[in-house]
Amino acid sequence: MEGREISKAVVTRLPRYYRYLEELLESGVERISSNELSVRMKVTASQIRQDLNNFGGFGQQGYGYNVKYLYTEIGKILGIDREHNLVIIGAGNLGQAIANYANFEKRGFIIKGMFDINPRLIGLVVRGIEIRGVDDLEQFIVDNNVQMAALTIPKTKAAEIADRLVDAGIKAIWNFARVDLNVPDDVVVENVHLSESLMRLSYRVCSMQDQEERMKNQEEGKHEKEREHRH
Ligand code: NAI
Repeated sequence: MEGREISKAVVTRLPRYYRYLEELLESGVERISSNELSVRMKVTASQIRQDLNNFGGFGQQGYGYNVKYLYTEIGKILGIDREHNLVIIGAGNLGQAIANYANFEKRGFIIKGMFDINPRLIGLVVRGIEIRGVDDLEQFIVDNNVQMAALTIPKTKAAEIADRLVDAGIKAIWNFARVDLNVPDDVVVENVHLSESLMRLSYRVCSMQDQEERMKNQEEGKHEKEREHRH
């Protein structure tokens, strides 16, 4: 499995498998078939088999998947069996909300520090994490062996800060600013845009409503024709 390339589509689905497997583990389930997992996750069993076969086929015929093993292996693939040191740039609403969420640590993401330019925020402590000024950003990154940064600043500031982060050795940016970042090939960016997700939700609810409307109109048209026919 080592060094094997896994498709982006599969990687996108792995965190969801991981979450379900964690729930199974917590409820004491030791093994599960692709069919059972399929019912729980509302994904076809063949998709599950295909996805999981991608990296070595953890399933055994007639036995199903060993939950603990699969959970551990997926964790390794996602790299959350290691610790990742992280900084948050922008200690406003969103930055503080992320800092306040203790569960990231459970996954190995250790928030080492937060940075802001607002003097009223500098020096404050959020869940044990001190907010610092950006002057010592580069030094802090090096001293604390920081690899990842969450960017929760206005989009107008994002490019400049991203450049500084990259120069300081940051390899992964969790970008919340509403702008696409230009970074070198050896730096990865994961964009998180809640409003895009909300727009997708809007599209889905609207197309559902439109379809209901069309069906209602068709039904009414049919009744209308029947009435005309009778007269
Ligand atoms: P906020 O105004 O509460 O926080 C932004 C913070 O960044 C402020 O404390 C400000 O002093 C600081 N800041 C500004 N320039 C800086 C710099 N050069 N270096 C360090 N810190 C700097 O805003 P909020 O609500 O926390 O949103 C933060 C950003 O995230 C905004 O760009 C917003 O548009 C975006 N956002 C994105 C979402 C998403 O789903 N991607 C959801 C909500 C907000």
